[in-house]
Amino acid sequence: MTRETSLFSGRPSELIGRQIAGYRIEQEIGRGGMAVVYRARDLRLERTVALKLLAPELARNDTFRRRFTHESRAAAAIDHPHIVPVFEAGETDGVLYIAMRYVPGSDLRHVLDREGPLPPATAVRVAAQVASALDAAHEHGLVHRDVKPGNILVARGTDSDHPEHVYLTDFGLTKKSLSLTGFTTVGQFVGTLDYVAPEQISGKPVDARCDVYGFACVVYEVLAGHPPFQRDDDMALLWAHQYDDPPPLTASRPDIAPQADPVLAKALAKSPDDRYPSCLTFMAALRAATTGEAVSVRRATSAEERAPGGPEPARQPPRWAEPVFVQRN
Ligand SMILES: Nc1ncnc2c1ncn2[C@@H]1O[C@H](COP(=O)(O)OP(=O)(O)OP(=O)(O)O)[C@@H](O)[C@H]1O
Ligand SMILES: [Mg+2]
Repeated sequence: MTRETSLFSGRPSELIGRQIAGYRIEQEIGRGGMAVVYRARDLRLERTVALKLLAPELARNDTFRRRFTHESRAAAAIDHPHIVPVFEAGETDGVLYIAMRYVPGSDLRHVLDREGPLPPATAVRVAAQVASALDAAHEHGLVHRDVKPGNILVARGTDSDHPEHVYLTDFGLTKKSLSLTGFTTVGQFVGTLDYVAPEQISGKPVDARCDVYGFACVVYEVLAGHPPFQRDDDMALLWAHQYDDPPPLTASRPDIAPQADPVLAKALAKSPDDRYPSCLTFMAALRAATTGEAVSVRRATSAEERAPGGPEPARQPPRWAEPVFVQRN
């Protein structure tokens, strides 16, 4: 067994207590298809970090490697309250690693598995934080490419007005665009295809609007309790992303205003040109559709025009929701 293999694929407990690139591994947090994430101690700065060790096969893929170097540098340069700060990215013993802020809490995948669909107000509150992170990244010329619930970390918020603080993580770390365009070996783990944009599937160049699509799939799932397309096999799922209309959200959530349906449909448009130009414009439309805010603003304006000094138009009461934050064990 080579050293690089033992670093990544050895039993997790074998790495506990070991030192890797100046970090002492303390505990496994979780693993996805291409990485293991540990809680670790940065021995130089004496702080706790999340240390992500990527599968050695990725270090051998030149396309991935180039993107890893470029995008982890770019992500490290972004200072945004809803993007997990990257402290360092590098390579040791043939393994690519990323040290980043340790976010105590849960990820949105676990939250959805545990809670099911979220109340609209909670969903919008959580999604708006992700939207601001994505738009900020896009302004820096970064495309995430793998927006999905597992890459959205949910920590405790600051107060009752902000019950949860949401972070986006894993910029540019997806294998999807590599494998879907034929760069990886058949049978390798690609990850979930629930959030992949049509242009990613067809191998066209992707831009920020592929993240609008992936983000819209996440928002759809947060509200509906399932992603927009559910098929028995991957080929059928890829076909659906490219050619099928998503079922209206209100088919699963009749309690949500029907105005939300065209908003989701536009965010999930097959052609990037037909989508919202940014995640925050999508969120603004969704918020207006689900809370009626924009409608009441418009009504207030016309009411004032007709009857200046008249009684204030009725406002919708605020909709409070239970926070989704739950501490990870
Ligand atoms: N900075 C962090 N702080 C705390 N936990 C984290 C951090 N980054 C990732 N995690 C957790 O580590 C686990 C594994 O993450 P990882 O990114 O490897 O997998 P994934 O995103 O679920 O799947 P995939 O392999 O498809 O990317 C997840 O449960 C995630 O919540
Ligand atoms: Mg991840």
